[in-house]
Amino acid sequence: MVDVTIVGSGIAGLFVSLRCARAGYQVALVTKKQLTDSSTNWAQGGIAGILDSSDEEAVQAHVLDTLAAGDGLCDERIANIVASEAAYRIADLIAEGVQFDQDPEGEYDLAMEGGHQRRRILHTRDATGAEIERALIQGCRSEPRITIHEDCLALDLILEDRHADERRVVGLWCMGSDDQPFTLPSRAVLLATGGAGQLFRQTTNPTVATGDGIAMAVRAGASVKDLEFVQFHPTALALAGDRPFLITETLRGDGAVLMTKAEHRRWTQTDRTAPPATLSFMLKHHANGSLATRDIVARACDSEMKRSGDGHVLLVTEHLDGEELAERFPTIAHRLQRHGLELGRDPLPVAPAAHYLVGGLAVNEWGEVWQRDLAADDPTNTSRSGNALAGLYAIGEISCTGLHGANRLASNSLLEAVVFSHRAGARVMEALSAEPEPAQVDLPDWRVEGLTDLEEHTPLVHDRAQLRSTMSDDVGLVKRDARLRRAVRRLDLLSEEVERIWLRCRPTVELVELRNMVLLARLVTAASLARRKNVGLHYNIDLK
Ligand code: SIN
Repeated sequence: MVDVTIVGSGIAGLFVSLRCARAGYQVALVTKKQLTDSSTNWAQGGIAGILDSSDEEAVQAHVLDTLAAGDGLCDERIANIVASEAAYRIADLIAEGVQFDQDPEGEYDLAMEGGHQRRRILHTRDATGAEIERALIQGCRSEPRITIHEDCLALDLILEDRHADERRVVGLWCMGSDDQPFTLPSRAVLLATGGAGQLFRQTTNPTVATGDGIAMAVRAGASVKDLEFVQFHPTALALAGDRPFLITETLRGDGAVLMTKAEHRRWTQTDRTAPPATLSFMLKHHANGSLATRDIVARACDSEMKRSGDGHVLLVTEHLDGEELAERFPTIAHRLQRHGLELGRDPLPVAPAAHYLVGGLAVNEWGEVWQRDLAADDPTNTSRSGNALAGLYAIGEISCTGLHGANRLASNSLLEAVVFSHRAGARVMEALSAEPEPAQVDLPDWRVEGLTDLEEHTPLVHDRAQLRSTMSDDVGLVKRDARLRRAVRRLDLLSEEVERIWLRCRPTVELVELRNMVLLARLVTAASLARRKNVGLHYNIDLK
């Protein structure tokens, strides 16, 4: 039996693995593909935070911007914890070897993004997440107490047989690249599997983001919170033949401006002397223009696209220095090159894409997962029971700490992940050190008897495409009651079909992911129907 199993290899999973291993605990680090296959690795913008923890005014300003973005639904206590612990955790990352960009004087170069009233975002050019992953993976690979299981899919949590209202997680079933399920007994399990952008047709997330951890925990009795708040990033590159590629908000922080095609035409043909920001449709939507918070910008882009019938709006950088931009945003410049586009020369076609799941597993300030009221049999009824699910923790995007409220402030997610990773790690180690040495455990094997191999995967591929269409068309950026109810009916049918296959077939990655996605899609839709007031990212036309 290992001491701690950590599922997921983004910033949260890697950071807590190192913490626990260095404190002397045996860690199993499980990840669905390779360690680098995580949303963190694709994060461009950066990590928000005040480096001087004694600067109370600056910490409070960060809290205030977080609360404003969250549209009244943030947990202020959590926002204070995260903002005031930022300095320590960012120092930890730097001590792990993460190199954030500095100016020639050796001061950290702080970026700007929507909703921030001042510069406070550390970054490494436009590949901040990749730099964090590089340093943390190097640490994990050289730590002998960490056993890394790559290409290993977590299937389900194993519960100790106790009373229904007092559950304990004692390990999990996983499946390796040989498709053979195996049992991983563990004294504690930390879920850090990230979000679920793959529920939608257009997403900035990697293919691994299928919500596995949330679905697994819900099946084990966890409660979820705020799943109706799905954040769409307003500026994903929208080009035929390429996946939506994130164009970081820090580009707008450095002066890029959103325009419709007509506004851009007017600017280039008749009014070149006017600053492009003064012509942008964004001014009709918010005084902060292209740097308003993400919920406002994404909906404004969507509404302009619907009005004009165009499949995108434009992100304009022609008024800026192309060479400087290419130096500051090399990842983006490189991607644009594939399509013959250049920063500082060409307007970029962009459109909103699903980016971040604000809601998730309901946790307390130590990352402990709340148990659901199990008297209600329906997993979409997720009211909290008042007990934590013993032995289970959730950190990073999978969790809902209350920090983001109804809308996450840009670049607060890497910070939240590292702060809660540290806190959950501390709580896990405290619990383990207080427990007696574990006895040899004999956990059940994954059920295989009577199961057959799935003959064809094609129906699953169609089901997945149908799920993504339903979520994009009916549960997306702009919702309506009738469409949400239609989504409920379609997802219920999909759920019945997938459960039928599940009961008779051996698991495959495609089947496990689809089953997880269907459950999470039902939860997101149920939460969207239940919220009867428009707030933050939740926008239902019928509630106007
Ligand atoms: C971005 O770089 O625009 C994304 C950063 C974030 O999602 O916080």
